Amino acid sequence: MPTTHHPLGIDIGGSGIKGAPVDLAAGSFARDRVRCETPKVSTPDVVADVVAKIAESFAEVTGNSPIGVTMPAVVTHGVVRSAANIDPAWIGTDVRRLLGERLGRPVTVVNDADAAGVGEMHFGAARNADGLVLVSTLGTGIGSALIYNGVLIPNSELGHLEIDGRDAEQRAASSVKDDKNLTWQEWAERLQRYFSHVENLFWPDLIVVGGGVSRKAEKFLPLLHLRAPIVAAQLQNSAGIIGAAWLARHHAESRRTAGT
Ligand code: BGC
Repeated sequence: MPTTHHPLGIDIGGSGIKGAPVDLAAGSFARDRVRCETPKVSTPDVVADVVAKIAESFAEVTGNSPIGVTMPAVVTHGVVRSAANIDPAWIGTDVRRLLGERLGRPVTVVNDADAAGVGEMHFGAARNADGLVLVSTLGTGIGSALIYNGVLIPNSELGHLEIDGRDAEQRAASSVKDDKNLTWQEWAERLQRYFSHVENLFWPDLIVVGGGVSRKAEKFLPLLHLRAPIVAAQLQNSAGIIGAAWLARHHAESRRTAGT
């Protein structure tokens, strides 16, 4: 039996549901990540079964530690409020309660990009950054996390800014690059429009670009010209799971201190 139990991070995405116990002293996975396909019908109850299976597979390393879960949606007080790229059945679901009851452990639910931002802030490219940091995740959609002097301002949803009459993520997400077979140069022009607009609204001190495509950052970041430094995420696709586990532990500690 390990003496320290690690919190578990789970990332619920459109194509996969991934989880791993997180060693928060090291800022990395304590065991290899497990990935399950997201079921075709991905309503809350069906997904809860998959999450329970993943949690079960790590029972020995995580004990009764808290669980942090990310969703590609606006999440307030554990309740999902939007569904741009997930089943609309999630809207209004109290995921904190659903999973908390199912797993018998405290659950923190957080927007996926916010979780990635927290991961990058503690262990990655935004570590020790002062002022305003924008973490932007480029994938099926565009996620965003705004962090000011180390404090997350949740649910910024900057992928849905209206730019040139369009929802920004429908022009500039990395899925659009793939679907339309855009060259790096063509996609970078769309990203340039997006990030200049965001930069003119928020004046971040640092922009961190995450999502799977950040593995190929050298292909497109040098094509972008912005006021703020723009750098690749360091934790890449682990950032969300690590950030969610960090938040779960942090919330558990705050509850303990408050005696609730
Ligand atoms: C959703 C966000 C999410 C982002 C990345 C957007 O479509 O509205 O909540 O963070 O996709 O998954």
